[in-house]
Amino acid sequence: MRAARYYDRKDIRIEEIEEPTLKPGHVAIDVAWCGICGTDLHEYLEGPIFIPAHGHPHPISGESAPVTLGHEFSGTVTEVAEDVTDLAPGQKVVVEPYIIREDVEARPGVDYQLSKDMNFIGLGGRGGGLSEKIVVERRWVHPIADHVALDHAALIEPLAVGHHAFVRSGAKTGDIAIVGGAGPIGLLTAAVLKAEGLTVFISELSEARKAKARETGVADEVFDPREVDVAEEVRRRTDGRGADVGFECSSVPVVLDMLLDAVRPAGVIVNVSIWGHKPEVDMPKLVLKEIALVGTIGYSNDHQRVIKLVEEGKIDLGPFITGRIGLDGLVSEGFEQLITNNEAHVKIIVDPRA
Ligand SMILES: NC(=O)c1ccc[n+]([C@@H]2O[C@H](COP(=O)([O-])OP(=O)(O)OC[C@H]3O[C@@H](n4cnc5c(N)ncnc54)[C@H](O)[C@@H]3O)[C@@H](O)[C@H]2O)c1
Ligand SMILES: [Zn+2]
Repeated sequence: MRAARYYDRKDIRIEEIEEPTLKPGHVAIDVAWCGICGTDLHEYLEGPIFIPAHGHPHPISGESAPVTLGHEFSGTVTEVAEDVTDLAPGQKVVVEPYIIREDVEARPGVDYQLSKDMNFIGLGGRGGGLSEKIVVERRWVHPIADHVALDHAALIEPLAVGHHAFVRSGAKTGDIAIVGGAGPIGLLTAAVLKAEGLTVFISELSEARKAKARETGVADEVFDPREVDVAEEVRRRTDGRGADVGFECSSVPVVLDMLLDAVRPAGVIVNVSIWGHKPEVDMPKLVLKEIALVGTIGYSNDHQRVIKLVEEGKIDLGPFITGRIGLDGLVSEGFEQLITNNEAHVKIIVDPRA
């Protein structure tokens, strides 16, 4: 079968590799669509980061580069191991792409995303969504209803990132949120917030992304920080109080600073960004307002909820797909587009069979 393999920085090859074989407790999936994530771009430009460098095997997967890429994917079950009794061939699924130790349980109440040596399928080994087929441990395979389109379903993984950020914020229906940065993560976080009944403000620079935030209705209002003082606008709409929660989705220090001004006293800021550099944080602002600044990584028992939101039509993922390509175009039409023409895109998805 064909697969996109990461060898090293700027060295991704489309190759013919062996098909994975089914093992006890596992499920074989034909991949339908796989999204390209900002993390994949970081690996391409600056990596290996999550990817174990050649000769340095990951402690759980035992693999190192070259590895198959792709962690945002959907597909159809083709075969299940004898001991898997609750899934059958033909079932549409998405994968929660974790590589986590076998003795760590993945159930409500367990922060398995924080377990030692956690990594991701499609980065740390165990195949990836940028290949025709994959075999995945049953516990990471989530069934989705037949009426959910498989191209839309490829965005359930980043949507779960947004949902976990929402959970970490402690926000509830009726609260007011300000999201800084409307890339794929900011937009999908906003989609979750809107679906959960919050009022959502977005700050963004790119015209295309501002338009996307407005068209999709994930934001009640969109501000451009070059035109207005965003924190001031948020306070004006909240009787001077400020937003209950803020989400940093840009990895830009001025956005974090804006959030410190835009949230209310005792408000919460969730930092979703994975920073390439250490930002300066205006601690006096944080202290004097008793702001809680919290982190969020991946997802943990979030897939069930976001799948339900998508199945019930409360979130429409279609408008966030801005490109569809085949595996051969991965670097030229996918990675390079997202690197040089990022603001014209939200999600580019790949059909590994095309
Ligand atoms: N915590 C997690 O588990 C997790 C998972 C996936 C991605 N991430 C991280 O989330 C972050 C966002 O990812 P993405 O793919 O959406 O990135 P992105 O770069 O596509 O989006 C960032 C957006 O911020 C906007 N922006 C830049 N400067 C701004 C400013 N001054 N004011 C307002 N907006 C501004 C940009 O125009 C862009 O649209 C990244 O750091 C990524 O690594 C975190
Ligand atoms: Zn990702």
